[in-house]
Amino acid sequence: MNKNERGSGRLIFWRQALRALRQVGAIAETSEIVARAVAAPLAGHAGPRRVLEVGAGTGAITRAILPHLSKADRLDLYEINVPFVAVLRGAFARIEGPTIQVFEDDIEQLPAGASYDAIVSSLPLLNMEPDKVDRVFARLVESVVPGGTLSYYDYWAKEARVWVHGADERRRVRAVLDVTRGYLERYEYQRRVIFRNVPPACVHYLRRHRESEEL
Ligand SMILES: C[S@@+](CC[C@H](N)C(=O)[O-])C[C@H]1O[C@@H](n2cnc3c(N)ncnc32)[C@H](O)[C@@H]1O
Repeated sequence: MNKNERGSGRLIFWRQALRALRQVGAIAETSEIVARAVAAPLAGHAGPRRVLEVGAGTGAITRAILPHLSKADRLDLYEINVPFVAVLRGAFARIEGPTIQVFEDDIEQLPAGASYDAIVSSLPLLNMEPDKVDRVFARLVESVVPGGTLSYYDYWAKEARVWVHGADERRRVRAVLDVTRGYLERYEYQRRVIFRNVPPACVHYLRRHRESEEL
């Protein structure tokens, strides 16, 4: 992706954020420091690997994933927003390196039985309904091979959102946080707060237990 493509990707991101903020979940692409932290579990593994990125947007995290992958690896990108999918196809279809496929779909449509060595996500979970968050987490966890990783980020002190909305929204956000906490208690092995991001970001690292371990 050259400088012009990066610039136009940022503009498209910003326009889509204005048009559909709830779906996009942010007004700007993920910063490089957070993107690198979310992609960190991919470092130093032997290939060939299958990697899934969920909510790839205009490719901010994709660019941090790519240096960890080789020609023998496969990278699937899921993105629901049509203009973002066009940016991803334009930017990553013709690069040297892993085989990249872009899926224009809701991640819930990921086929049952899909299997990845690592999943990286930046979905705006806190904007979703709690039952959707539960279904998405369940699908992602079951799609990681035993021992594989799922990394994603949200915002530090996100619990504060509970206090700034009306009663219905408060209930929804609390329920989403409850669902999320359940998965984190079960699978999270590390977390990292990045204060140099505005707002500070919290990167979560989850690992699917091996078959010999209790799920
Ligand atoms: C916070 S943005 C992150 C975008 C990009 N990865 C980045 O780091 O700049 C979240 C992305 O998730 C996408 N998204 C939201 N709901 C989705 C869903 N159910 N399935 C797939 N993608 C979704 C949005 O369109 C958006 O591109």
